Amino acid sequence: MLLDVALTWKELPGRDLSQSIVVIADILRATTVITAALSNGAVAIYPQDSDENARACYNRLAAAGVPVLICGEKEGFKRPGYDLGNSPLEFTSNAVSGKTLVHLTTNGTRALVAASAARRVVILSFHNLSAVTRALQIDKNEVQAFLFTVSGKEGRFCLEDTVCLGGAIAGLLEPPGHDYEITDAARAAVDLYYLYKDQLLNMVQQCEHGRYLQQIGLGDDLPACVQVDTTAIIPLMLNGVIQALASPEP
Ligand code: MLT
Repeated sequence: MLLDVALTWKELPGRDLSQSIVVIADILRATTVITAALSNGAVAIYPQDSDENARACYNRLAAAGVPVLICGEKEGFKRPGYDLGNSPLEFTSNAVSGKTLVHLTTNGTRALVAASAARRVVILSFHNLSAVTRALQIDKNEVQAFLFTVSGKEGRFCLEDTVCLGGAIAGLLEPPGHDYEITDAARAAVDLYYLYKDQLLNMVQQCEHGRYLQQIGLGDDLPACVQVDTTAIIPLMLNGVIQALASPEP
């Protein structure tokens, strides 16, 4: 079993994902939002890769009578005409309970669409770090690889996703005595996790996208994005739709 890290989701289209579970993180902020929304009662989430597809998906669901919200950002801000933006603080149970969400973001939801050929796609954030790690321990005999994928920033590496993915990999490597094959990228992610795990807020305040969010007045999102293990929900994407699985007990 191989543990690998794709340092940007743009690596995904070139890979055979059919025997892999892809684990995607977009800490600032798409996968944090997805975890928060499902924890607060959203029924399902349809990730999108363009405004056109998002609006078509929304119209289809609305025409079928599904209670649906269209959500997402451009350059960090709520898209014009959308119901919600991409701040985890917006996805309260009042706002999303019982609703299906159509979700479009610059990197995170595009990474999810790009991973759709994988055997399974698991959505990771700090909120469900231990829950996802426990579930992966159970899944490990089912596939040839876990591909931990950084959503990043416009096709480039980013620190905060790598640190969170490194936390999940570190969890898989405990206790020692496993038989995983580990790539250098996966080893580097684990090292970054141990470097930053006790200063997550400082790390996201200093990273590129965290600095940008603070500049545009969205700094209050950062503490919400680094809360660890607030839920046992595991968002799982099958056939392009994300739904919640409850994690196995510790
Ligand atoms: C993304 O997908 O690029 C992000 O979630 C952007 C953001 O909302 O800050």
